[in-house]
Amino acid sequence: MTKQTLLVTGGAGFIGSNFVHYWMKKNPQDTIINLDALTYAGNRESLADLEGQQNHVFVEGNIIDRELVNKIMADVDTVVHFAAESHVDRSILNPDIFLETNVMGTQVLLDAALKNKVKRFHHISTDEVFGSLELGSSEKFNEHTPYDPRSPYSAAKAGSDHLVRAYGETYGLPFTLTNCSNNYGEYHFPEKLFPLAITNLIDGLKVPVYGDGLNVRDWLYVQDHCSAIDRVLTDGKDGETYLIGGLTKDISNLEVVKMILSLMNKSEAEIEFIADRKGHDRRYSVDWTKINRELGWEPSVDLEEGLRRTIAWYENNQAWWRPLKEQAKDFFKANYKKEN
Ligand code: NAD
Ligand code: TYD
Repeated sequence: MTKQTLLVTGGAGFIGSNFVHYWMKKNPQDTIINLDALTYAGNRESLADLEGQQNHVFVEGNIIDRELVNKIMADVDTVVHFAAESHVDRSILNPDIFLETNVMGTQVLLDAALKNKVKRFHHISTDEVFGSLELGSSEKFNEHTPYDPRSPYSAAKAGSDHLVRAYGETYGLPFTLTNCSNNYGEYHFPEKLFPLAITNLIDGLKVPVYGDGLNVRDWLYVQDHCSAIDRVLTDGKDGETYLIGGLTKDISNLEVVKMILSLMNKSEAEIEFIADRKGHDRRYSVDWTKINRELGWEPSVDLEEGLRRTIAWYENNQAWWRPLKEQAKDFFKANYKKEN
């Protein structure tokens, strides 16, 4: 097995920390440099079990810091770029930082990757760059779907995707790009729908559902996302984009919340319908046949099993999420008083 050094950005966040755990277990010979600014979404506790491991080097720092990024990129073979401002609701309340981190930060990393001749820059992006599909239609996003971002978050992510491809075309930077659907699972910040629902129910609180609850997301278990990134890093072709999704059938927010309620033995009276999100995308659905056909990937866990695992994790890791919920109080206050 060849040894390599990976620079993982945003490795203290939800997907990044899951990926670091996944990669270190599977490739113990590799070194991971984990660059994370520890914003509200970044948490050293998500990496606590890696404390003292020589081949995991945590660097607290901002991807926009050119000097730092250049320095740590020196011996890096592969960049796996997760770092971003990622929460749509926060982007509606305060878009500025989304542009700074997601667009400018990505450009700083791209420059450093070029300068230091990294072998592969892998960019993690979202299906939200493709906009919104019609409810009830059978249409799905695929690698040829035109971009149509509709929130400050997805617009900034779209900007970062365009930059990555432009660096590939213009300067020959070797890259791959994945657009994935909504992830769920362990270490998910408790202001996103699933962990919010689960932790509220543990505490005897209601589950806030936006609008009529009929919006559709394509849910992907985070471990399956990690295995898909692994496939792309290992066998993905330079310059290619792969879409990653978890489902084959539409399921509305309301239906998923009802599944969570049932798995936690709670009644539907715990649902609280609230004012809708501004510009709330109606439906996402991902056609993941390209990665399946070309790289042999498919999700290994269905939604019910993934939810069981996720619920058990939040029940058993209350010391992880309780301080985060406390810390997000101001966000909850600002977000849940919004008017239609
Ligand atoms: P997250 O918000 O949980 O984590 C982001 C991490 O990046 C945090 O640890 C944070 O501290 C760090 N970070 C933020 N700004 C930084 C900066 N300027 N410099 C260095 N570090 C910084 O996000 P996530 O849910 O883990 O998402 C990871 C990536 O996957 C993002 O690029 C996101 O757009 C993409 N994505 C996420 C989902 C999802 O469902 N969560 C779906 C599709 C795509
Ligand atoms: P979220 O987890 O914020 O992801 P995204 O907006 O990136 O898809 O939300 C998932 C879905 O759940 C989305 O349709 C909005 C909805 N939602 C609620 O109904 N109530 C909530 O309290 C939250 C946070 C989200």
